[in-house]
Amino acid sequence: MALFDAFRYDGKRVLVVGGATGMGAAAAELAQEGGAEVVVMDRAPVTLEGATAIELNLAERGSIERAVSACGGRVHAVFSCAGVDEGTPGIERINFVGHRYLVEQLLANDQIPRGSAICFISSTAGMGWERNFELLSEVLDIHDYDEAAQWMVDHGQASYMGTKQAICAYVARECMRFLKRGIRINAICPGPTDTPLARANPEAWLGTGSDYRGELGIEASQPMEQAFPLVFLCSDAASAITGITLVSDAGWGSSALTGAFPPAEMMGKLLFGRISIEEFMEQVGDLSAFAPSSGAEA
Ligand SMILES: NC(=O)c1ccc[n+]([C@@H]2O[C@H](COP(=O)([O-])OP(=O)(O)OC[C@H]3O[C@@H](n4cnc5c(N)ncnc54)[C@H](O)[C@@H]3O)[C@@H](O)[C@H]2O)c1
Repeated sequence: MALFDAFRYDGKRVLVVGGATGMGAAAAELAQEGGAEVVVMDRAPVTLEGATAIELNLAERGSIERAVSACGGRVHAVFSCAGVDEGTPGIERINFVGHRYLVEQLLANDQIPRGSAICFISSTAGMGWERNFELLSEVLDIHDYDEAAQWMVDHGQASYMGTKQAICAYVARECMRFLKRGIRINAICPGPTDTPLARANPEAWLGTGSDYRGELGIEASQPMEQAFPLVFLCSDAASAITGITLVSDAGWGSSALTGAFPPAEMMGKLLFGRISIEEFMEQVGDLSAFAPSSGAEA
């Protein structure tokens, strides 16, 4: 075996949850090209030739249980990609509780063997999770699907930011438990990426950070540019990496936090949990003032 083969997926079975379009579809295509047998779960039709498609609605517990049993067998990598926009009914179940339930079902059935890896898609909107960790820890202790979903609603976390922070908290807090079983778990936190989700609400998603990208002469990411780190993190090449939230935002967050790009500094500090919403409002006045470089949606 050549050293570079550690990046490949030959002989591996890969599950992409939410792989019909966007970043999940790109990850499915890339893993397949890397040698994987690919299973895609989604509520939308799956077009990737050669992939096994399984219908799934993450907002319904029974649908998750049926999908896990239809998948059967073992999976060596799980990409938890599906996600919906702010205001979508059931966002707490689709973006976090359902994904976690699916992964925990696979674990309970011994369908994820040692040496496997899981990678979620969170968001730069989830990077302030440490500030909210004590609260989010409560939901990490609730394993029942309906109870956890209700907790998210009751505690004001049934939002895009709340669900993305919950993913980051889950990955960080649970990585040791997973590694006891020989499994790694990570997340990526993309910035604005040109996908159907973003195009459905382009001002909020692709308008975000446009001033930053304009100064650099770069575009929003393509889905495949997010699939590359996803597929790397679940490959054997990333065997030393677990429990991390990898920021794939073309440097917006770092430039904002350090003041290298001053227009985004306050929003960066808010999203990355350096200041509270109250402190932000005190200094900035309102959220809309920073809309073009906010990063709040992505
Ligand atoms: N596009 C961006 O700018 C951006 C930035 C940061 C994070 N994200 C996150 O990236 C992930 C992928 O999104 P995308 O931008 O590729 O969008 P997308 O809409 O192309 O992909 C999302 C996929 O999730 C599926 N899905 C939605 N609801 C579902 C449900 N109830 N059950 C099962 N599947 C469901 C969709 O059918 C779709 O295939 C999401 O978690 C999103 O929050 C997106």
